[in-house]
Amino acid sequence: MERQIIGKCRKQLTFVVLFNFLFWFLLLYFYSEFSVGKNPIALFGNNFGNSDNPQESNFVHLHENSLEPNTQLPDMGNNQSNEEIRDVKNVTKTESSNIRSRNWDTSTAKNVFQAEDDGFESVHQISVSEKELEPDNNQMQAHSRDNEAKFVEVSGSENGEESENEVAPNVNGNKNAPTITKQSSREKKRGAESDVVDRSCLGRYVYVHDLPKKFNEDLLKNCRSLSNWTDMCEFTSNLGLGPRLPNFVKVYSKYGWFATNQFLLEVIFHNRMKQYRCLTKNSSMASAIFVPYYAGLDVARYLWGSNTSMRDSGSLQLVKWLREKPEWKKMWGRDHFMVAGRITWDFRRLTDGDFDWGSKLMLLPESRNMTILTIESSPWSNNDYAIPYPTYFHPSKDIEVFQWQNRMRRQKRRFLFSFAGAARPNLQDSIRSEIIAQCQASRRKCKLLDCDSHSNKCYKPVFVMKMFQSSVFCLQPAGDSYTRRSAFDSILAGCIPVFFHPGSAYVQYLWHLPKDHTKYSVFIPAFDIKKGNISIERTLHRIPKHKIRAMREEVISLIPKVIYADPSSRLETLDDAFDIAVKGVLERVSRVEREMREGKSSSFDYLEELSWKYNLLGTVQKEHEWDPFFART
Ligand SMILES: *[C@@H]1O[C@H](CO)[C@@H](O)[C@H](O)[C@H]1NC(C)=O
Ligand SMILES: *[C@@H]1O[C@H](CO)[C@@H](O)[C@H](O)[C@H]1NC(C)=O
Ligand SMILES: *[C@@H]1O[C@H](CO)[C@@H](O)[C@H](O)[C@H]1NC(C)=O
Ligand SMILES: *[C@@H]1O[C@H](CO)[C@@H](O)[C@H](O)[C@H]1NC(C)=O
Ligand SMILES: *[C@@H]1O[C@H](CO)[C@@H](O)[C@H](O)[C@H]1NC(C)=O
Ligand SMILES: *[C@@H]1O[C@H](CO)[C@@H](O)[C@H](O)[C@H]1NC(C)=O
Ligand SMILES: *[C@@H]1O[C@H](CO)[C@@H](O)[C@H](O)[C@H]1NC(C)=O
Repeated sequence: MERQIIGKCRKQLTFVVLFNFLFWFLLLYFYSEFSVGKNPIALFGNNFGNSDNPQESNFVHLHENSLEPNTQLPDMGNNQSNEEIRDVKNVTKTESSNIRSRNWDTSTAKNVFQAEDDGFESVHQISVSEKELEPDNNQMQAHSRDNEAKFVEVSGSENGEESENEVAPNVNGNKNAPTITKQSSREKKRGAESDVVDRSCLGRYVYVHDLPKKFNEDLLKNCRSLSNWTDMCEFTSNLGLGPRLPNFVKVYSKYGWFATNQFLLEVIFHNRMKQYRCLTKNSSMASAIFVPYYAGLDVARYLWGSNTSMRDSGSLQLVKWLREKPEWKKMWGRDHFMVAGRITWDFRRLTDGDFDWGSKLMLLPESRNMTILTIESSPWSNNDYAIPYPTYFHPSKDIEVFQWQNRMRRQKRRFLFSFAGAARPNLQDSIRSEIIAQCQASRRKCKLLDCDSHSNKCYKPVFVMKMFQSSVFCLQPAGDSYTRRSAFDSILAGCIPVFFHPGSAYVQYLWHLPKDHTKYSVFIPAFDIKKGNISIERTLHRIPKHKIRAMREEVISLIPKVIYADPSSRLETLDDAFDIAVKGVLERVSRVEREMREGKSSSFDYLEELSWKYNLLGTVQKEHEWDPFFART
């Protein structure tokens, strides 16, 4: 009898043990399946097999060039989209004095709209209006965010901070006032119009100058005249975001992807400003005055083959208009800011010779008192400030960002490093040829999208984004000028950027990127590459895997900060590149105001030529290892 019971118990016990074993086995199995995408061993192995990521299984491999859908993908037309078309030569030494015009893009984006009837447009529209009407929207968002965070846990967080990044997105002062976040944008707009003082907005009010239409709207209306090579009418659509990108090969996420032109930041920023929470119609309440002039679109019409008076005419009319406004007198323009969506060298013509490049917008006395935000600033000037290039991703909800971040965390990256770009045989100091040669020599580890080759893949966002998503490191050497849009595309793809000149990012995007550049990027001095005594592959290979993981996590956490949200909507808790830029401007203005009150005549007491150093370190006294990079001889 007892034996029987014991026997039974044994059987049960065996069963329980077996079941337990099976259970743990399955659990472990799934766990490893999920985390394999992040497994550093997989990163470096020659793993060309199919991905474990179900989302990835439909992906077209870049190097295969075989799937039909790709060939039908619209040509995004502008060669500018990934490889910057820069017309700046000798920028390092003589600023704008030697800038030559290059043959611009000639292809058009004809096909872009053919692929538009995939239903995304309407779906998106609905979701936007839902958001406005739905009072409980915030709750919904919070709920989905919870799910998102849980998923991160299940899929194996290798970095304790990861989930923290997920659940506690950068909530900062301006947005945690519950009264504001609960308000719908429509209510908020009404608030701004009736000038009800919102206490959470004190010190953050922005007044937008109502410029004559010729400074902005008319330029868009006459979009045909903006470029002889690119159909700017397509790129100015969707509030400056451009046409929606079709997602045949699932390189992008479902919503929020556009064929954005790198030079449309001034339009995007202006529209984004319409969603700013603390707008005022009463300029005497404002802490800063926004000037919505489309400086880049204006000057681009005259960069090639026009005389200087044509190039300067818009800028001169603008500053005259500004100077005559009562708002100017308050701080002599020091509280004014605007966006110039081209690199600073297009606005810094030193002489009045027609052979010289660009306009002189940034050198006008009025402009010297303003803050001009631009995609590349001058290290030697202190009236311009760099903010990120626009990328292709313009989400309208926080959740779209979180989902994209998670996808980039799981992404399998089979290339150690990659490069999209062309050589610059005419630029003496360029290291592009060396970079390309090194990449070609590291055949198995490096993926190259050669913008000189005939395939033209380099100009299609789908190929570039796919390549960056498959790479651990993305090389970002200077081109015709220091910066590249590509650096932001690579951050967006969770690819750790490798810079070769501190002017390419470290002294530029001080509001948006961490001060400690080693946290999110690798620096290999261009001098060493030129000398030929450094191997990129070996340098990158030497970086410990845990360090790579930490850097990538940092890069992915930067994604919300370097993207511009869809201006037709508004993110709930995240600060996008626009929010961070406005915050930066407000801080700058208040510092100047304080100094003016204290009787300091000027907002800076250092040699302007050392602006890069002052902005970076807050002092120009000490010697710095980057001095040689910015020496002006
Ligand atoms: C731009 O791309 C077209 C092909 O679409 C090519 O013929 C042209 O040379 C490219 N322009 C530049 C500046 O690379
Ligand atoms: C604008 O704001 C100022 C200072 O806050 C106030 O004195 C003035 O009455 C306001 N003007 C209007 C038209 O509301
Ligand atoms: C386009 O070409 C015409 C004629 O050559 C020229 O007058 C005009 O300035 C050009 N436009 C742009 C935007 O380059
Ligand atoms: C500059 O070009 C415009 C248009 O081609 C012309 O009307 C104007 O007279 C020129 N100005 C000078 C100073 O040459
Ligand atoms: C620029 O600001 C200074 C004061 O900081 C002022 O004296 C000067 O007149 C301003 N320039 C213009 C063009 O308003
Ligand atoms: C740079 O400028 C100097 C003088 O301004 C000139 O002699 C040199 O040829 C220029 N270099 C290039 C690559 O254009
Ligand atoms: C390359 O050479 C320079 C000096 O010639 C040296 O400072 C630098 O450290 C070298 N780099 C490597 C990786 O050896």
